[in-house]
Amino acid sequence: MIRPIHEGEALALAPLFAPFMPWLPQGALYAMMQYERRRFFVAEQGGEAVAIAAYGPSGYSRHAWALGPAATLPTHRGKGVGSELIQTRLDAIQAAVIASGLPAALVHVSSRRPHSWVRLGFRVIDEVDGSSLLCRRLTVGAEGER
Ligand SMILES: CC(C)(COP(=O)(O)OP(=O)(O)OC[C@H]1O[C@@H](n2cnc3c(N)ncnc32)[C@H](O)[C@@H]1OP(=O)(O)O)[C@@H](O)C(=O)NCCC(=O)NCCS
Repeated sequence: MIRPIHEGEALALAPLFAPFMPWLPQGALYAMMQYERRRFFVAEQGGEAVAIAAYGPSGYSRHAWALGPAATLPTHRGKGVGSELIQTRLDAIQAAVIASGLPAALVHVSSRRPHSWVRLGFRVIDEVDGSSLLCRRLTVGAEGER
C-alpha cells in the first residue's frame, strides 16, 4: 500500500531511511518531512514501511515540480516498489496541475541513474560529476499523460 505520510511520522521514518541517503546532510530528511514543502509517500508491506519517496513544487513556481529524494529498504529493492513510487508521484503532480488549471508543468529530478528516468520520458539537461539533471513535460491532455 502506498499512502502519504502522516503528520508526526517523520520521527520514525527519517532515521529508518536516512542511512540509505548518505549524501543528505544529517537531519535533512527529518527537516524535509517535518518542516519543508516536500510531500512524502510511504510504501508499506505487512504494516511496515519499506520505501519512501518525495516530491514538491520547485521553489514557488506553479509550473515546475521536483522529484526526490527516495529510498527503498535494501531488503525490498528490485521488486518494483521504487518504480511504483515514481508513478504515484507523477500522478500526484498531474492531479495538482489539473487542479491548478494549468495545461502542463515541468518535472525535474537529479539522479545518478539517468537511464531509469529516460525510460520514463525524461530528458537529460546536463550532467556534473556523475549526477544528471533531467526534465520531463507533464501535459494535461484529454486523457492526461503518464
Ligand atoms: C533507487 C532505489 C530507490 C530503487 O528502489 P527499488 O524499490 O529497488 O526500485 P525498483 O524495484 O522499482 O527498480 C526498478 C528500476 O527502477 C529504478 N528506480 C526506481 N526508483 C528509482 C529512483 N527513485 N531513482 C532512480 N532510479 C529508480 C531502479 O534503479 C531500477 O532500475 P534498473 O531496472 O535499471 O535496475 C533504491 O535502489 C534505493 O533506495 N537506493 C538508495 C537510495 C537512492 O539511490 N535513491 C535514489 C536517489 S534519491
